[in-house]
Amino acid sequence: MCVTKTLAVKSRKETRSNSTKMPVTAVSRTKPNILITGTPGTGKSSLCKQLAEKTGYEWLEVSKLAKDWECISDYDEEYDTSVLDEDKLLDTMEPIMANGGKIVDYHGCDFFPERWFNIVFVLRTDNTILYDRLSERGYTGKKLSDNVECEIFQTLLEEAKSSYDEDIVHELQSSTLAEAASNLERIVSWTDQWTKDNTS
Ligand SMILES: Nc1ncnc2c1ncn2[C@@H]1O[C@H](COP(=O)(O)OP(=O)(O)OP(=O)(O)O)[C@@H](O)[C@H]1O
Ligand SMILES: [Mg+2]
Repeated sequence: MCVTKTLAVKSRKETRSNSTKMPVTAVSRTKPNILITGTPGTGKSSLCKQLAEKTGYEWLEVSKLAKDWECISDYDEEYDTSVLDEDKLLDTMEPIMANGGKIVDYHGCDFFPERWFNIVFVLRTDNTILYDRLSERGYTGKKLSDNVECEIFQTLLEEAKSSYDEDIVHELQSSTLAEAASNLERIVSWTDQWTKDNTS
């Protein structure tokens, strides 16, 4: 699922950013915007929920919000998943992102404007552990194997590196609860430091 989706949206981001002539760097804001991405099941939402509680930042769980905002354009029966209306979603998110203090959670990242984010984290999970997590969730057949393959080929890491300045893209292991706790601590520390550096 990941592989097909990421290929499908690539050219649209380029067209959009060229036409709007927006700067590629993150604009100045008093709180940073954070992107948490990774293959389905790597732990994005678990991490974002705790991060939002610790920082007071707003967690934007894009796959759920897209439904609330009616930004679903289609249903892909082969992959058993909703297809985003990316243009409508981006237009809806634009004013929300402007003030900073947002944590965006999505299993894709190449169609968001680069200037939205101050930092990007890509969660990674051991293939066998991910297989078990997705099976427990009820994924089977092609949906299960495509998502595990997406992780094996590190599709989201490559997508993030090709869509954002590599200096702001960080890979985080998310196979164990100890790693989840350490990731949380690391991002909270980064956020505190960013705030000190940018608001004094
Ligand atoms: N680091 C971790 N160690 C152990 N279990 C984890 C870890 N991270 C997440 N989990 C568990 O894995 C499952 C999937 O986590 P979660 O729903 O947060 O993934 P996700 O990346 O948001 O998935 P999706 O993209 O489908 O929304 C949950 O049951 C969660 O408790
Ligand atoms: Mg999630």
